[in-house]
Amino acid sequence: MSENSVFITGAATGIGKALSLKLDQIGWRVFGTYNRTPPDDLLKAASSRLTMMKCDVADPNAILEAAEKVKGALGDTGLSLLINNAAMTGAPGPVETVNLEAFHFLMEVNFWGPIRIVQTFLPQLRKHGNARIIIVTSTSVYLTIPLGCTYPVSKSALAALTRHLRMEMEPFGIQVTALEPGGVKTKMTGFSKGEEVALWESIPPDLRPLYQKYFSNPGDQLEENFNLWPPSKFADKVYKKIIQANKWKPVYIIGPSVKMLPIMHRLLSRKRIEKIFKKLFGAKF
Ligand SMILES: NC(=O)c1ccc[n+]([C@@H]2O[C@H](COP(=O)([O-])OP(=O)(O)OC[C@H]3O[C@@H](n4cnc5c(N)ncnc54)[C@H](OP(=O)(O)O)[C@@H]3O)[C@@H](O)[C@H]2O)c1
Repeated sequence: MSENSVFITGAATGIGKALSLKLDQIGWRVFGTYNRTPPDDLLKAASSRLTMMKCDVADPNAILEAAEKVKGALGDTGLSLLINNAAMTGAPGPVETVNLEAFHFLMEVNFWGPIRIVQTFLPQLRKHGNARIIIVTSTSVYLTIPLGCTYPVSKSALAALTRHLRMEMEPFGIQVTALEPGGVKTKMTGFSKGEEVALWESIPPDLRPLYQKYFSNPGDQLEENFNLWPPSKFADKVYKKIIQANKWKPVYIIGPSVKMLPIMHRLLSRKRIEKIFKKLFGAKF
C-alpha cells in the first residue's frame, strides 16, 4: 500500500496549518502551501517529511509549479488526499456598490483556484488508486450576511461545484466531500474595527445614509454569540470524522453551534430566517 500523502493549500495559518501538523504528526507526507509568509513555526514543529511551497492559488502557473513539485517527490505512487483549503474574505459592502474587481479577485481565490487545483492534481490523484478530495466550503452557505455577500456567494458556488465533482469522481473511486467549518478561531473569524471602517468606507458617501440601518459591527456580534474553537481541536475532529472514515458523506459540518444551521433551513421559512439573521448581525430595521 502506498504511503498517505496530502496536498493542502493555505497551510501557513489557521485550519490549514493545524491540519498539516496533525497529519504530519501521524506520519503522513504533507505538501502544504503558503501565500504571503512561510510558516517558520510550523516547519520547526513538524517532521522533515513536511514540505512547504509558495503558491498563490489565483496564479495558474504557481499551481502548475506546485503540482510538478509534488509529482517529482511522489513519482508513480500518486497523491492520496487533496485539501482545497485556502480562501479569503473581503470586497465588503452592499451589492449596489460592491467593488467588482475586488469581488472578481475573491472568486479567483475562493472558486476558480480550487477548480484549477482539482484539474491540475487529478492525474496524480487517479494514479494513487484510492484518492480523496476535501473541498473546504463554509457554514456561510447557510447565512445571509448584511452587506457581506461576496464570501458566502463564493462558498455557495464552491459547494455546488463540490456536489458535481463528487458525482463525477465516483466511477473513478475518488471520494469527494465538502467540509463546512464554522466558529474556528483563526485570522478569518477575527473581525476588526478596521474592517468595519473599510466596509463603511466602501459605500459612496451619498449612499451611506441609505445603508445606515444595516450597519453594525458584525465582528462584535459574532464574538458575543459564538464560542470559537481553536484550530487544533477542529483538526482533530476533521481527522476523526472524515479522514479516518472509509465511506465519506457528501457534507461534513464541523464547529461549535453550527449543526443547527442546515436544520434551521429545513424547518423554518425563508422570512423567519431573514429575521434571525437581521437580529444576529444587528441590523436596525
Ligand atoms: N475559521 C472558520 O470558522 C471558518 C468558517 C468557515 C469557513 N472557513 C474556511 O476554512 C478555510 C481556512 O480558513 P481559516 O479559518 O483557517 O482562515 P485563515 O487562517 O485566514 O486561512 C486562510 C489561508 O488561505 C490563504 N490564502 C488566502 N489567499 C490566498 C491565495 N491567493 N493563495 C493561496 N493561499 C491564500 C491565507 O494565506 P495568507 O494569509 O498568506 O494570504 C491563509 O493561510 C477557508 O477555506 C475558510 O473559508 C473557516
